[in-house]
Amino acid sequence: MKIGLLTSGGDCQALNAAMRGVVKGLEEICGDDLEIYGFLNGYKGLIYGDYRKLTGADFSGILTRGGTILGSSRQPFKLMRVPDENGLDKVEAMKSNYKKLGLDCIVILGGNGTQKTANLLREEGLNVIHLPKTIDNDIYGTDITFGFYSAVNVATTAIDCIHTTAASHNRVFIVEVMGHKVGWLTLYAGVASGADIILLPEIPYEDDKIIEAIQKRHQQGKGFTILAVAEGAISKADAALPKKERKEKLAKEAKKWPSVSYKIADMITEKTGSEARVTVPGHTQRGGSPCPYDRILCTRLGSAAAKAIVDGKYGNMVAMINGETKLVPLADVAGKLKMVDPDCKMIKEAKRIGISFGE
Ligand code: F6P
Repeated sequence: MKIGLLTSGGDCQALNAAMRGVVKGLEEICGDDLEIYGFLNGYKGLIYGDYRKLTGADFSGILTRGGTILGSSRQPFKLMRVPDENGLDKVEAMKSNYKKLGLDCIVILGGNGTQKTANLLREEGLNVIHLPKTIDNDIYGTDITFGFYSAVNVATTAIDCIHTTAASHNRVFIVEVMGHKVGWLTLYAGVASGADIILLPEIPYEDDKIIEAIQKRHQQGKGFTILAVAEGAISKADAALPKKERKEKLAKEAKKWPSVSYKIADMITEKTGSEARVTVPGHTQRGGSPCPYDRILCTRLGSAAAKAIVDGKYGNMVAMINGETKLVPLADVAGKLKMVDPDCKMIKEAKRIGISFGE
C-alpha cells in the first residue's frame, strides 16, 4: 500500500494528530506493506514533486504538536487550472507525480478551498480521501471540523483576559475573532466567554442596536461591555448593497480601518463618547496544542480514513455526523459552505439570556 499525505491551506492545531491517526490505522492493517510519501507545503509539494518518504516513526509523538510536520501553503483553487509562471500545467503535474510514485491513494487534509482541489483530483481519476480541517468549522457535510474547538479555547481565553481589564476600566472592549466568512468561532467563543454582544456575518448588525445594548447595560449598572466580533461581520446597510458596490465600499474603508472591529469601535466612541478598545488575537487562534476534543476527533477521523483506504472507498471526505464517523462523497459537498443558522437554538438561547446580536 502506497499512500501520499498533504496538508493544505491555513494550519491549525490538530493536523499532526489527524495524520498520526491515519498512519497508525494503516500500520495496524498493512504492517510492513506500507509506504508513506509526505508532500511538503500543501499542493505545492504535489505539483513540484517535493516530498519525503516517511515511516510510522515520523508520526509517533506528534499527537499534541500544533502546526503540521509537512508544512502548508495556500494554493487557490481558482488558479489550479492556470499554468504557473513557467507554463507548467499544475493539474497534469499533480497527476504525473502521483502516478510516478505509484500511489494507491492520497490523503488530503484541508479546508474548503483544499477540498475543491481534492474533488478536482478525484474527477481527474486520482484516489483521494479528504479530512476536514479548519478553525472556521465551515465545511459542509460534517458537524465539526478539527481545529475548531482548539481555536474556540484560544479565542475564549483571549476574551476572558479582556474581561478583567474591561471591568476595571469601565470600558467597551471589542475582541475580533477569526472565522473568514462564517461566525461559528465567534458564536462559540462569545458564548463561552460571556460576551455581551456577538456580531456574526450571518446576522448583519445595525449600529443603533449595538449602542442600545451598550446603553442598556449601562442603565443596569454594568459599567463595561464586551463585544465578540467576527472578522467577517457586516452591517445591515452594507449587506444590502449590490455585490460590486459593497466590494468597492469595503475596499475604501479598508484604507481607514484595518478591520471591521476598528470601524465599530469608532462608531461606538462617536455615538457614546466612551472609549472602545480593540483586541485582535489573530493567528494565535490557530496555534498551540490541540485540545482533548480535537485529539479524539482526529484519532477517530484518522482511524476511519485508514479503514476507507483499505476498503478502497475513495473520493470521500471522512466526516463526523451525530457522533459517528461517516464517508461523504466529495462530489456532494465540494464548493458548499456551512454557515451559522441565525434561527438555530443556540442563538435563540443566547438571546434569551440577554446577549445582543446587534439586530
Ligand atoms: O481559514 C482559517 C483562517 O484562519 C480564517 O479564519 C482566516 O480568515 C484566514 O485563515 C487567515 O488566513 P491567513 O493565514 O492566510 O492570513
